[in-house]
Order: sequence, then structure tokens, then C-alpha cells
Amino acid sequence: MRHLIDFGDLPRSEWDGLYARASRIMDDPQNFLDACCGKVMASLFYEPSTRTNFSFQTAMLRLGGTVFGFADPNSSSVAKGETLKDTIKMVSGYADVVVMRTPWEGAAKAASLYSHVPVVNAGDGGHMHPTQTMADLTTMTRLLGRVDGLSVGLCGDLKNGRTVHSLIKALAKFTGVRFFLISPRELAIPDYMRAFMRENNMFFTEVTGLESVIPQLDVLYMTRIQRERFVDPLEYERNKGIYILTRRKLERAKEHMLVMHPLPRVDEIAVDVDDDPRAAYFQQARYGMFARMALLADLANQPRLDRTEALEIGTGPVCRNPRCITQSQPYLPPLVKRSGGVDCCAFCDKALE
Ligand code: NCD
Repeated sequence: MRHLIDFGDLPRSEWDGLYARASRIMDDPQNFLDACCGKVMASLFYEPSTRTNFSFQTAMLRLGGTVFGFADPNSSSVAKGETLKDTIKMVSGYADVVVMRTPWEGAAKAASLYSHVPVVNAGDGGHMHPTQTMADLTTMTRLLGRVDGLSVGLCGDLKNGRTVHSLIKALAKFTGVRFFLISPRELAIPDYMRAFMRENNMFFTEVTGLESVIPQLDVLYMTRIQRERFVDPLEYERNKGIYILTRRKLERAKEHMLVMHPLPRVDEIAVDVDDDPRAAYFQQARYGMFARMALLADLANQPRLDRTEALEIGTGPVCRNPRCITQSQPYLPPLVKRSGGVDCCAFCDKALE
């Protein structure tokens, strides 16, 4: 693996190797104090973050590496109009690994085309968030002992929730996973994800009610309604507060069911759930740091590429998704991939019309 952009690109065997390393780190962190000694991580956060940013930084520090970057793009040359390509060319000249979060879908993929060092997607708009998925899989495996055969309820904003999309991509690599996709109709999973699930023969049911499915679940993965992604504020107002998990609703859940959440929560999990033994979300955030340590120990030690591949220079976006990175970076090559029987933008996955 050279970059981590989309969990779908990671073979199951590579994930198993990462999980094994994360477990070794958790069991004996002293053994990894020098795993990234002398290595430098760039952390480019164009969008707010607490857990992802902090857990990446602490992961690198705990491996003996160092960190630089920004959490506010207005403090960098991005504010002067620098292109993503130029920022990445330059930053990848200084760092051994680049971690980036952006509001633009496909931005990490775009960055990876020009980077001399591995790029990690720490969230690209409402598209993907593969390292959150590493935290999620680590949590399920550590606390339930397996991922195969689980019944997983994904609840909330499945349209804009990038953690959900990455988790579905990852769970396609396991056997016998059953999904309950719980959302209001207007916040259902995007078409490209539905096509992905069908193509991979995944078992899923789409429902609008949470309470009726709770008794069947091994994992209930709650998500925040992603206010910052709504174009129409009324649509947000209609949907906010739609699902609230309370201790009372948990009464009908299995005794071993995990309540997970990528965090931050707004009101979708009542505070009275926090002390229930099934509440796994704070533990999940801590596992995220160990999973990221396992990833960085690999990527920050990869050899640097002195030259990147010459690419066709684009002449403007072929993709109509207004949130796609190709909209603001017209030089990007017009990359197309086939998915669900249709041509899709290789950056943001949306079908090309
Ligand atoms: C998630 C994100 O940024 O997508 N948070 C995180 O990385 N832990 C979920 C969210 O913001 O709702």
C-alpha cells in the first residue's frame, strides 16, 4: 500500500496485518517508541477536527516521530490561492507522510497523484474517511472478537456521513455481515454506495425506524446529522434530532450489542447511555489512535518517490458534482472508473451524466 485514500483499495490481508500490528502496539506500546524515529508527518486540515487530528498527532508522537501542519487553511498559502497540486508538491518535499482532511470530495485522491510520499485521507467532504473505519474495525474486533457475521445498524445521516461510506466499503471484505440502514429517506446512502453494495452482493435493508430493528443488532453505529453538508438549511431543520438513542431504547437490545459513534455527537445519543456497558464510543476514539499508529509505522517508513508520474492535464471538470475536487482544480486529469455498470468520476465516485 502506498496511500490510504479509500478503504475499498485495501486488500483484506493488508487490513489483517494492520490490525495485528495495532494489537501488538496496544499490548506493548514500549516496543514501538522508535518506529517512526526521525520521520515527519504533515497534517493538513482544511476542515474542523478534534479526534482525527489529535489522534494522528499523538500517534506520530508516540512512535517517536514529529508533526507539522495547519488546522486552519487560512493560516497557509491556500488563502493566497495556491492550488492543491502546488501545496502537495511542496509539503511532500518536507514530510515523510501527509495526512489531509478537506471539505472537497476526492481531494486526497487528487493529492496522491502529485505527492512524493504516502497520502492518508483523513476525510474528504461527505465521501470517505478510511482511518475512522480502521478505528471502527479495531473496536468491533477487540470488543466482539470478530467482524464476520455481524448484524450492523448504521443510523442517521447516511447520505453525507463519510464514516458510513468507508465502513460499508470495509465490511464488504468480511463474510456474512448484514446491514440495517436506518435513515430518513432524504438522508439515505448515495446511489454510488447502493450500487457498490449490490455489486458486492451485500445483504442490506433500508428502514426509517430505529426502535424496531434494535433487537436484531450486534452493532449500532450512530451518526450525527452532518449540518455543514446541507445546501438547504430547511432540510437540516427537518432532520435534526430525528434519532435519539436513550437508555430506555437500549432495553430491547442484545446484551453484547455495541453502541458506536465516530463522534462528535450532537444529541443522537443521550448522555444516559454513556454509562451503559454497551457504550463503546469513547473506547472507539482511543482505538483510533492505535490503529493510526499501525498505519503510520508502515507509511512513514516507505521510500520517497523522487519523481511522480506525468499525467494528462485536464481542461476543466468532467464531473458535475459541485463538491468534487475537480471543480476547483481544473488541471486534474479527467479520470473515469466503471462502477455499478456506469462511468463514474474516479475522484468522488459520482456517476458521470
Ligand atoms: C467524523 C467525521 O469527521 O466525518 N468525525 C470523526 O472523524 N471522528 C464524524 C462526524 O463529524 O460526524
